[in-house]
Amino acid sequence: MTPRAAVVCGLGSWLPPRAVTNDELARELDTSDDWIRTRTGIGARHILDDGLATSDLAVEAGARALKSASDIAVDAVVLATATPDHPLPATAPRVAARLGLGPVPAFDVAAVCTGFLYGLATAAGFIAAGSADSVLVIGADAFSRILDPADRSTRAIFGDGAGAVVLRAGRPDEPGALGPVRLGSDGSADHLIQVPSGGSRDPLRPATAGQGDPYFRMAGQAVFRHAVESMAESSEQALHDAGWTVKDVDLLVAHQANVRIMHALADWMGLDRERCAIHLDRVGNTSAASVPLALADAVASGTLRPGHRVLMTAFGGGLTWGACTLRWPAVEAY
Ligand code: UT7
Repeated sequence: MTPRAAVVCGLGSWLPPRAVTNDELARELDTSDDWIRTRTGIGARHILDDGLATSDLAVEAGARALKSASDIAVDAVVLATATPDHPLPATAPRVAARLGLGPVPAFDVAAVCTGFLYGLATAAGFIAAGSADSVLVIGADAFSRILDPADRSTRAIFGDGAGAVVLRAGRPDEPGALGPVRLGSDGSADHLIQVPSGGSRDPLRPATAGQGDPYFRMAGQAVFRHAVESMAESSEQALHDAGWTVKDVDLLVAHQANVRIMHALADWMGLDRERCAIHLDRVGNTSAASVPLALADAVASGTLRPGHRVLMTAFGGGLTWGACTLRWPAVEAY
């Protein structure tokens, strides 16, 4: 019997309207447009208005992905996020309810910037096992909510946003079918990307107010090295699974953390830099939303067209990483 593959049949994305340029950041922090562009490739990022939360981003992107999938009925919702609305419960059930999807299973996946790929793997597993015929996978993050207002190195990089795909059961040889998602982790380096306080190890309580660190922290240079190595390794595994070589890849959609990381990855793999999808210049690093937002941008610009061979890869806190291939299907992105 042919195994049930997970096939992309819808794509949606959403960015909060408020864009903050590097020059605007430089008015309140000791930084400059030149430093941020040269070191990261980022020119602006979108920031969610006060009063809104990750679920608001996820609902917008999810609704657009469902529209793109001709409002197919989905059997499950997987939300990849590191910035849930609350420490508990998960944010996905609220998103499913607001999308009017009924009592479907809905849960969050926490793999920080690799979350979307972990979400794809989870959804593909549901489909392969016969637990679902179609799954909405959303990557949504509102990092503006966890950044230290005084930390120029993280505020220059991160922005808010959401992207989503709908996966349905299909054949492994049809357009849109995901190859095996190759994932990895290394928890011995979890301190390199962390929110130190507010979890069970160091709870924030009124009695200890002011002592913990509730903000996102990242050891940028160490992360940079890990990012290139682990994305290259998982990409090679994903290409091997698909029976492709680097020359077969029409578009590399890598996590949009830093243009220097993407170029180093392309150089390492022997891939033409021109084949890297670049979206971070306008949105920065949107964590779990980064890969689907870059896919949507590439579709909108005509860079990504039906039949193109796509390699997706990401890296993030955990540490976590992953990669996956697909041949792009004929779907309209909203
Ligand atoms: O999404 C999850 C995965 N994350 C990543 O993959 C991020 C990977 N890391 C990076 O992208 C880069 O390491 C950063 C963009 C975070 C930092 O770039 P860098 O070239 O590695 O800079 P650095 O951390 O080595 O800092 C160099 C200098 C420091 O000053 P001193 O100590 O040399 O005086 C920083 O304080 O640059 C300074 N700096 C800044 N200067 C102006 C850091 N951020 C800024 C800034 N504006 N925004």
